[in-house]
Amino acid sequence: MSSDQTSVTGPLRIGVAGLGTVGGGTLKLLQEQSELLQRRCGRRIEVVAVSARDRRKTREVEISALRWHDRAEALATDTEVDAVVELIGGADGAALALCEAALANGKHLVTANKALLAHHGTALAQAAEAAGVNLGYEAAVAGGIPIIKALREGLAGNRIEGAYGILNGTCNYILTAMHDGVRSGQVQSFETVLNEAQRLGYAEADPATDIDGIDAAHKLAILTSVVFGCPVNFDAVHIEGIRHINAIDIEYALELGYRMKLLAIARDAPNGIEQRVHPCMVPENAPIAHVDGVFNAVVVKGDFVGTTMFEGPGAGAGPTASAVVADLIDIARGQMVPTFAVPAKSLSPRSFAPMAKHVGTYYIRLMVVDRPGVIAEIAACLRDQQVSVEAMIQRARDPDEAVPVVLTTHEAEEAAVTRAVAAMAKLGSILETPCMIRIETL
Ligand code: NAP
Ligand code: HSE
Repeated sequence: MSSDQTSVTGPLRIGVAGLGTVGGGTLKLLQEQSELLQRRCGRRIEVVAVSARDRRKTREVEISALRWHDRAEALATDTEVDAVVELIGGADGAALALCEAALANGKHLVTANKALLAHHGTALAQAAEAAGVNLGYEAAVAGGIPIIKALREGLAGNRIEGAYGILNGTCNYILTAMHDGVRSGQVQSFETVLNEAQRLGYAEADPATDIDGIDAAHKLAILTSVVFGCPVNFDAVHIEGIRHINAIDIEYALELGYRMKLLAIARDAPNGIEQRVHPCMVPENAPIAHVDGVFNAVVVKGDFVGTTMFEGPGAGAGPTASAVVADLIDIARGQMVPTFAVPAKSLSPRSFAPMAKHVGTYYIRLMVVDRPGVIAEIAACLRDQQVSVEAMIQRARDPDEAVPVVLTTHEAEEAAVTRAVAAMAKLGSILETPCMIRIETL
């Protein structure tokens, strides 16, 4: 740790790697709020060095007075830097090299990089705690919502039964636009809405990471570790994205009293911890059903507090910078809590439940040939797997075209529903791959 670190009056000197959406926003916030931050921390937070890919790129913030490093890793050995802020992105490569080097050199580390933490979070936490420095990552989960602080501090007196939420702003933005399009009769294409999310700086460098559910899964793996005090286990997350969601399913969801959301769920279930990210139908009257646009929300169930819900902007320059700076304020004030709520050496492995063992209710949409006997064939597939039907809708009548048949089930084990749907897909009367969406009663 550099010598000025022990001084409570000297500035906290930071080096920032990555000057894109989040890096730019962070520098802007630190510049514009410098007096406020000084009052709140009792010392200044001063950016002294930066690094990005292209030195000649025009930036929205003034960086000419700051020391420039072509190699981000050089920030880790810069003797004028007390804390390194990693805002490059990516699970490995330059981001990982910088973070490992920063901790090895006794620098505090702040990162917004959930991919990195999902894959290397436990090792980085161990390195940070061994070095006696902070590893701050508030910005990595749910953007501007201070959910890590809430779990590690505000709710620390509770045994947490589970947490779920909307953790990807881009997907929620797309699903909200699809919902609004269905309601207004003016459906926008998936590409148009995704382009807008990219333009607004919400999407990852590769937006497939967002729409295939991987980004939400990275955040869920981190959240699970904080909630259950176990090592981060990204490989145990069941992941499905939103590519297969059609306007017709959003329309049926509304008709059945639900809204479509991509949820990330961590739950202590009878067969082990469930970590799952997938589209869900959630009851229209649940508060999370009305979290729209780029907003995220996290619902936490604690044994003493009961149910709490945190909602706010989940992506974008300002909200993410707000979270990055919150971690810097902790460092400037000398506040330190265990990275994943318990000391890294005390994180205890837990067993994770396979998705096949999940018990829930399901929506199934089939595109069928409209002829006598089809419904009996479909019902037989469900009967053979002991899956009970709760409701069925078949409204259209058209002997020349495929018509939708929608079923909802009573509670059933996922393995049985999957086998029933696979059997339906083989029927000659089913014209498209069946669509199965889980219904969450919450
Ligand atoms: P971005 O706009 O693409 O910015 C990435 C920055 O990293 C750019 O300034 C780029 O340099 C720099 N960079 C790339 N490779 C580098 C390297 N090898 N060495 C040094 N700098 C390098 O990304 P972002 O949206 O700000 O995201 C940054 C991180 O925050 C990611 O981990 C992301 O997942 C996370 N995050 C983003 C959001 C959001 O709303 N965008 C929210 C929460 C968390 P150039 O500018 O020179 O190309
Ligand atoms: N791409 C992410 C999202 C950024 O859309 O939520 C915030 O982590």
